[in-house]
Parts: sequence; structure tokens; C-alpha cells
Amino acid sequence: MTLKILRGRVLSFNDAPKARDDQDCHTYLEDGAVLIESGKIMARGEFADIAKSVPADVQTIDHRPHIIMAGFIDTHIHFPQMQVLGSYAGSLLEWLNTYTFVEEQRFGDLAHAKKIAGHFYDEVIRHGTTTAVAYCSVHTQSVDAYFEEAQKRNMLMLGGKVMMDREAPEALRDTPQSSYDDTNALIEKWHGKGRNHYAITPRFAITSTPEQLEMAGALAKEHPDLHVQTHLSENKAEIEFTNSLYPEMGDYFGIYQHYGLAGEKSLFGHCIHLEDRERDAMIETGSVAVFCPTSNLFIGSGLFNWDRVAGPQDKGRIAIATDVGGGTNYSMLRTLDEGYKILNLQGQRMNPLTSFYQITLGNARALSLQEKIGTLDKGTDADIVVLNANATSAMQLRMETVTTLEEELFLLQTIGDDRAIVQTYVAGEALKAGLN
Ligand code: GUN
Ligand code: ZN
Repeated sequence: MTLKILRGRVLSFNDAPKARDDQDCHTYLEDGAVLIESGKIMARGEFADIAKSVPADVQTIDHRPHIIMAGFIDTHIHFPQMQVLGSYAGSLLEWLNTYTFVEEQRFGDLAHAKKIAGHFYDEVIRHGTTTAVAYCSVHTQSVDAYFEEAQKRNMLMLGGKVMMDREAPEALRDTPQSSYDDTNALIEKWHGKGRNHYAITPRFAITSTPEQLEMAGALAKEHPDLHVQTHLSENKAEIEFTNSLYPEMGDYFGIYQHYGLAGEKSLFGHCIHLEDRERDAMIETGSVAVFCPTSNLFIGSGLFNWDRVAGPQDKGRIAIATDVGGGTNYSMLRTLDEGYKILNLQGQRMNPLTSFYQITLGNARALSLQEKIGTLDKGTDADIVVLNANATSAMQLRMETVTTLEEELFLLQTIGDDRAIVQTYVAGEALKAGLN
């Protein structure tokens, strides 16, 4: 068992900030340290205290003056869309039919899926993301490639095969029965292997017949510990088409409710144009709305209304995510930046402490995984990112005028990107190639 100390400016959240300058929501140590053993955090504290508690020959990796915090969590991303990112389309359904449903057909080829999986993990790690929740393609091979590579790198990843049996090219369609059987086999094969979590993944109501959503609901019932992920209320034309396919369900979220797909482990991508009833029902069922800023802007889907989704008592559960390849960047920093702009346009600003809470502990809570990831608390997994707010000349110049941690964080999210990620530790191992 090798011990390792990371030394630097240690920042970890304990709770959601209650105000812009809330000093109780986090622990911040100017000369702090994290002690790691066998992929877990054994202690967090002042460097002097941690150093005293271990033998003198324990390796110390000195990251001063950089910030050490929990690795970022991306709660919605499409693994087979790396080569779709940046495709020129005016709206969701055009984008899906013209590019996405063409590209995803390539993932029936295991060799291709494996090649992209290698790039996928390189890229998320390079951007400081240590956990992601991904949609794979309809093919079981894509899930095999996705989880095999996660296990190789010892990452805590969630994902699943999309279930889709209509409104897509023949080569991307399964059937209610085959999607049920394949999902069950994949759960058996991958869930709990290494740090993998399987997520039951009906793509969205348009591409599933009622019979298939019934199967998805049966899977959710049979595996209540598993996550469910799908898309909800992203685009006006999508909503209209969905309601025409399920006219008796009242509204879009009602479809998922009807088939037993709502709940505390359920993640709903987008939630931009919710009706009041849908918002209330999401809160009642503990379902999670996933805000995907770069995607919503790029595809022109609309402005996510955080305050409305959170509800008057702030009980709505919200996560934030990239949604690559509808989303345009793997970076959770770039995602925060675009999210800030979307909210500011609506008179709702997210303060910098809340932003960094959200991409760590906030997203971990949305996934009900806060006991494992999202903080630097003792006993949690050592998934850690090291941040440099002086990573570029523009950042350096601006940093000359920065005097507080909050300002530094805001600078990181406003002009930071993968260059600000000095290192990414996954279960205690440094995985970002080459220090900068
Ligand atoms: N709705 C159904 N599938 C998708 C997808 O791949 N991306 C986005 N942004 N929305 C979807
Ligand atoms: Zn998506």
C-alpha cells in the first residue's frame, strides 16, 4: 500500500453555498494536503499536520500554488458523438437525423467503438472530469468498449446502451424485447465491475414505442438501485412530436411517469420548456433535471430556467453537464461559463462558489453518489483535479488583479479550459499525460 500526499491549496465543498460569500459551505486550506492510499482519501488537512502523521519518506507531490479539488462530474454526455461535435444544424431533430443517427451506426463495429473509447477517456481526463454519465449507442459493443476502457483506467463511470426502436434508421433500431434482453445482459456483465455503474437508457420518447418504454420501466423496477437516463423537453418541435405520439399522456414528463421511469435515480437531460405540472411532478418524484448549457445554445434549443426548475422552495434537483456532441466542449469550466451566460440573460446569476460546488458535490448529490465522489472527504475515492488559474497569458494578466478565492474561481470558469487542468487523479493515480 503506497501512501501519497498531494500538497497545494485544498478546496472541498460541504454543502451548497447559501450566499455568494458563504464561508461555511466549503473547507479551504492555503497550505493544505490530501493523503491518499489505495485509491482512497485517508485524510485532508493542513500540510504540516498531514506530513507529521506519516513516515518521513512518504512521497509528496507539491502542487503549490495550484488549487486541489474534487474531480469534475459530467452528468450527461454521448460517447458515440465525439465525431459529431460541431456539426452544422439548425435544430435538434435536424441535427439528430442528419449527423447523429448516421455517426452512431459506426458503433456496431467493436474496433471503432474501442478506438473512440480510448479517445473519449483521454479527452475527459484532459479536461479534469473524473466521472461521467454517458449514452452509448444502440449496440452492445459500444457499451463493452465504454466500460472496458473505464475499468482499465479505474474510473467511476455510468452509462448504458440506448434503447430505441423507432424514428431512427433501421440499423439503429432494436426491439422492445431485444432492448430488454441486451440491457439485462449488459447489467450482468458490467454493473459493479470495477467502478462501473450501468444506467438504463431509453433515448427519448420519440425513439421508443410504448412497448419499449414498458420494458424500460420493467428494467427500472427490477433494478431499483440503477440510474435511468433520458431526454425531456429540449426543443419545441420535439415536444410537439412527442405529444402527438403519446396523445393520452397529458404531457412529456407524464409519459416517463406513466412507464415508471421517474424517481430519485432518474436523470432527465435538458428540461427547458417544462409545463408547471411537469416541474411539480419532477420535484415530487425527486427526479433530476440536467442543465446542458453549451448544447442548448449550440442547437438553439432554448434557455434553461434554473430558478423555475428549482421551484419556489428550491427543492428541484438539478445537475449540470456538457452533452457532447450536441454540447461543444468537454470542459466543465466552459460549461459553467456558458451556463452563467444563459442564467444571466434571465436575471439569474450563479455565483462562483455555487458553480464549483455544482460540478463537484452538487453533481455527486444529483447522482446520489456523494458518499464516493464530489468531495475531498476522508474515505471517499481519490478522484481529484488540480487547477491553475495562471494557465495562459490572458489568465496571468487578469490574475494580477484578483484578490479573493471567489474571483479566482470565476476567472477559471470564465476563461479557463483544459489548459487550466494541471493534473487529473483517478483513484489516486495521475492520468493526465504531461504536466503543464
Ligand atoms: N435527444 C435524443 N437524443 C439526443 C441526443 O443525442 N442529443 C441531444 N442533445 N438530444 C437528444
Ligand atoms: Zn443528450
